[in-house]
Amino acid sequence: MNMQNKTSVSLDWKNLPFEYVKTDYNIRYYWKEGKWSAGDLVSDEYLPLHMAAPALHYGQEAFEGLKAFGTADGRVVAFRPVENARRLRRSSERIFIPAIPEEMFLDAVHRVVDANRSFVPPYGTGASLYIRPLVIGTGARVGLGPASEYMFIIFVNPVGPYYKGGFKPVKALIVEQFDRAAPLGVGDCKVGGNYAAGLGGGQYGKERGYPVVLYLDSKEKRYIDEFSTSNFIAIRNNTYITSKSNSILPSITNDSLSIIARDMGMIFERRPVEVSELETFDEVGAVGTAAVITPVNLIRYRDREYVFGSGDRVGPVITKLYDRLVKIQAGDFEDKHGWLYEIT
Ligand code: COI
Repeated sequence: MNMQNKTSVSLDWKNLPFEYVKTDYNIRYYWKEGKWSAGDLVSDEYLPLHMAAPALHYGQEAFEGLKAFGTADGRVVAFRPVENARRLRRSSERIFIPAIPEEMFLDAVHRVVDANRSFVPPYGTGASLYIRPLVIGTGARVGLGPASEYMFIIFVNPVGPYYKGGFKPVKALIVEQFDRAAPLGVGDCKVGGNYAAGLGGGQYGKERGYPVVLYLDSKEKRYIDEFSTSNFIAIRNNTYITSKSNSILPSITNDSLSIIARDMGMIFERRPVEVSELETFDEVGAVGTAAVITPVNLIRYRDREYVFGSGDRVGPVITKLYDRLVKIQAGDFEDKHGWLYEIT
């Protein structure tokens, strides 16, 4: 059966928040004695977990985020899952989690989305099925060291926009009081600890009226690293600029948008971006899987405010990039780079 919304569950698809929703199945694999199990689809939302699991104490955990979409012709497609498989492999290597083979990752995505087909938001609703893979060290251990056993899980969750209001500009605050990651740390890996480290800065920003916060490099506080949940991009004339840093996440959305920008004839620059350049940018965005692009119309840095675009209107280039990406994801624009992976 590959018609995606024949049996859709009844949800308010157009007003979905970015919140947990229980679906029918998640998929689980266990790593024991040097190999991964075959993977079981289960309905239980809870994990049987030893209290001495290193994931709980020492943060031996890596995760991913990707999305699936319902297309106009009734297909269900996941967006660039191979890239997530590769990134999870890099994150896992860094924190001594056994590799999840690419084919196993893709098969897991396929099986869990297929099993939850009725939760794939219907085409045209603007919602998507967020796919959350995670791998955790489970084998009991008290001393510091990698676990002897692991669990790889994927659950799925129908979601609407990450920020309430969707594609609307937000204000950002540069938080120098907090670092998200260290220069030779794990900032370039999708591991839970980076997000825990970002909670303080996020809260500091929220209390001051800024929904998103931007981190500078932790060594010199001179270059722009990334936002708490997403990469930094800036548009200047016909150039797409994004930060190059060892401590930021290699965002698949950023990569996709930069390819789209080049397809549209723009120049692409990935390089250290000095905070002093802020005044030269026409448009700024925060880019990641969950939010796609969050346009940023103001950045506060110390006692200065840098304003981008005009008021609440999203800049023209970011609008074009966003439109093109969401059209490709929904199957409404030629997928010339082969980014869509069909859940048959
Ligand atoms: C994503 O953009 O997919 C992320 O992983 C950010 C997360 C905080 C939802």
